[in-house]
Amino acid sequence: MIAIPEEGQEWPALKQALLEAKARDYSWKRGRMAVFFYYLDEALERVQQEAYLTFWTENNLGQRAFPSLARLEGEVVEMGLSLMRAPEGAGGTFTSGGSESIFLAMLAAREKAGVARPNIVIPDTAHLTFDRAGWYLGLEVRRIPTAADRRSDIVAMMAAMDANTVALVGSAPNYPFGGIDRIAELGALAAARGVWLHVDACVGGFLSPFLSRLGVALPDWDFAVPGVTSISADIHKHGMAPKGASLLLLRDAGLKQHHRFESKAWARGLYAAHTAQGTRPGGAVAAAWAVMRHLGQAGYLDCARRIREARSVIAAGIQTIPGLEVLPGEHAILVYRSHDPGLPIGRVATILDGRGWLVSRQQEPDGIHLHLNPLHAEVAEEYLADLRLAVAEARAGAAPEMAAGRAY
Ligand SMILES: Cc1ncc(COP(=O)(O)O)c(C=O)c1O
Repeated sequence: MIAIPEEGQEWPALKQALLEAKARDYSWKRGRMAVFFYYLDEALERVQQEAYLTFWTENNLGQRAFPSLARLEGEVVEMGLSLMRAPEGAGGTFTSGGSESIFLAMLAAREKAGVARPNIVIPDTAHLTFDRAGWYLGLEVRRIPTAADRRSDIVAMMAAMDANTVALVGSAPNYPFGGIDRIAELGALAAARGVWLHVDACVGGFLSPFLSRLGVALPDWDFAVPGVTSISADIHKHGMAPKGASLLLLRDAGLKQHHRFESKAWARGLYAAHTAQGTRPGGAVAAAWAVMRHLGQAGYLDCARRIREARSVIAAGIQTIPGLEVLPGEHAILVYRSHDPGLPIGRVATILDGRGWLVSRQQEPDGIHLHLNPLHAEVAEEYLADLRLAVAEARAGAAPEMAAGRAY
């Protein structure tokens, strides 16, 4: 077992060791993965790093000590609310990521409803974080099959509700396919039943508004839709901030009380938190604030334009490869599969992986999943060239098949 060394080492040697440790990872900076990272350019990278370092050790739990962080967090929340067309009186919380935003939303829905055996009704394309939240929070999770277009089936979701349903969920978009659920219909259903509607825009919150401005026809999904109670939107995804940054936004700031913990039940006195985290990294808030102001709406529009370009080049290229087919979609998520039994997609995946591309294997349909970001526009042709080679080799039967739905 490794122990902390008896004597400390100097930083240059440690830095070298860290760089060597990551040398054999898949290269995100060369666009070799379409999951886990979001990258624009070196200018933004510098803003992310320097802004983070400016507050690298401040603790955002201590907002009396660091009023600066209270102000920065407030401004980040407001920028999110205005982007997502929230009404007067809305509010929100800066969290560590999509999971925490979703957990807090489900906690607040449960606490507000106050029923004995709570359940939530979600489309089966919703992120598994809702199942994790159910497990942590004692909620029964009812996953309802989607309609033929892989978007929420409102009639089936309505049929699955009962007096103990504390929340409905829709994704904007969902992670498996990139489709946006029928949020307007879900909002009407939620309002009619007096139930919380959470929209999971962890992926889309900072991208969909800009895709729409580029003319992509997306259904409405934000606070402009009546009945939407809360939205999760990750700044560390298409908000382009470093990791550890998401927003839970609420139509009514008063709802924050339902995810607030407060107690004096120990010797030290009052402890209160709106988040699952106690200690909160100030650097994450400062970096998110700086990235949003550095990019501005023009910068986000540029990111969306590059993602559109990556999507259209890659999708068009794949469609020209006999045996492959791209699933319909408009967002940053692109799924393709083989419709030719002589071309096992798992074999294509193994060969692509061997050429340095981290492959995300879709479970259903048996395929390959890409979550595109701005950098992919630059490597789209390289990806297609390797894909063509991989398909030719796969047809020759040279490689084993990478299992579908393989773990991250
Ligand atoms: C749609 C969606 N919701 C929630 C999450 C969870 O976010 P995080 O990994 O930041 O906790 C993800 C992550 O990919 C996601 O795609």
